Amino acid sequence: MDLQLKNKIVVVTGCNGGIGSAIVQSFLKEGALVVGVYRNSLSKLDKLFNWINLAEIPLNNFIPIEMDIDSTPSIQQGLGVVLKKWNRIDVLINNAGATIETPFLALEDNDIDIIYSSNFSSLAKLSREVGKIMLRQKNGNIVNISSAVSDRFGRGVSVYASMKAAVNRLTEVMALELGKKNIRVNAVCPGVVETPMSNALQDRHSVILLNNTPLRRFATPSEIAMSVLFLASDVTASFITGTQIFVDGGIRL
Ligand SMILES: NC(=O)c1ccc[n+]([C@@H]2O[C@H](COP(=O)([O-])OP(=O)(O)OC[C@H]3O[C@@H](n4cnc5c(N)ncnc54)[C@H](OP(=O)(O)O)[C@@H]3O)[C@@H](O)[C@H]2O)c1
Repeated sequence: MDLQLKNKIVVVTGCNGGIGSAIVQSFLKEGALVVGVYRNSLSKLDKLFNWINLAEIPLNNFIPIEMDIDSTPSIQQGLGVVLKKWNRIDVLINNAGATIETPFLALEDNDIDIIYSSNFSSLAKLSREVGKIMLRQKNGNIVNISSAVSDRFGRGVSVYASMKAAVNRLTEVMALELGKKNIRVNAVCPGVVETPMSNALQDRHSVILLNNTPLRRFATPSEIAMSVLFLASDVTASFITGTQIFVDGGIRL
């Protein structure tokens, strides 16, 4: 099926991560032009560049941009580069996120601040700035990567689970405010996915997690990426906004 994503300008945060790189690869395979947002070191993108070479994707179809997504000046500077090159942004995928697995009473102030900024305030600031661009275009599409713990479980990741619940609510209210401007906003809530982020969790709790997952396995990053493509495409999801898709093997049931 042609998802009509060819030549769409797609911004993906956390593009070097497990799910982020799968999302980037999926859009590139559809012929989209992808802006990969990363922090600190370009060398983190080596694996992604190798894949792009092997897949024979034109190198110009992927542009890495370093950004501090919790800083409005840094966001504006990065988006300025995108606008100068393409003068529009069609799709934003807010994928960056991080957790610290610690009982609630043992969390330090700094842990709480990091979890807040990695999962919520950065997403809100970047969405606001990209939303202004989409408003001018009278068209746009935002997909937020939330989590199944926004709804269930969450022991040991209290603030992370709460921030993901906040992402779900922000998704709904953004959809409410921006729908009349032809901007759709949705969220994908993964269960446990085989990525570096969930390694420690899988090591410690894999039997319990698998027993609680009706499909009795964890997700692959590309299974999450497929649901993101589905929501981002106006062929498959043109009338879907303000919703959450749980891609969790049924773990929340
Ligand atoms: N893996 C799972 O089981 C699972 C389940 C549910 C939801 N999720 C969500 O899926 C998304 C991707 O996770 P993943 O599993 O792919 O994890 P990952 O492999 O650890 O990748 C996380 C990505 O987010 C970036 N990031 C984290 N904090 C950031 C910050 N403050 N500023 C900028 N970038 C930041 C990381 O950059 P650096 O490499 O520079 O740190 C990395 O690129 C996250 O939102 C996560 O909450 C994951």
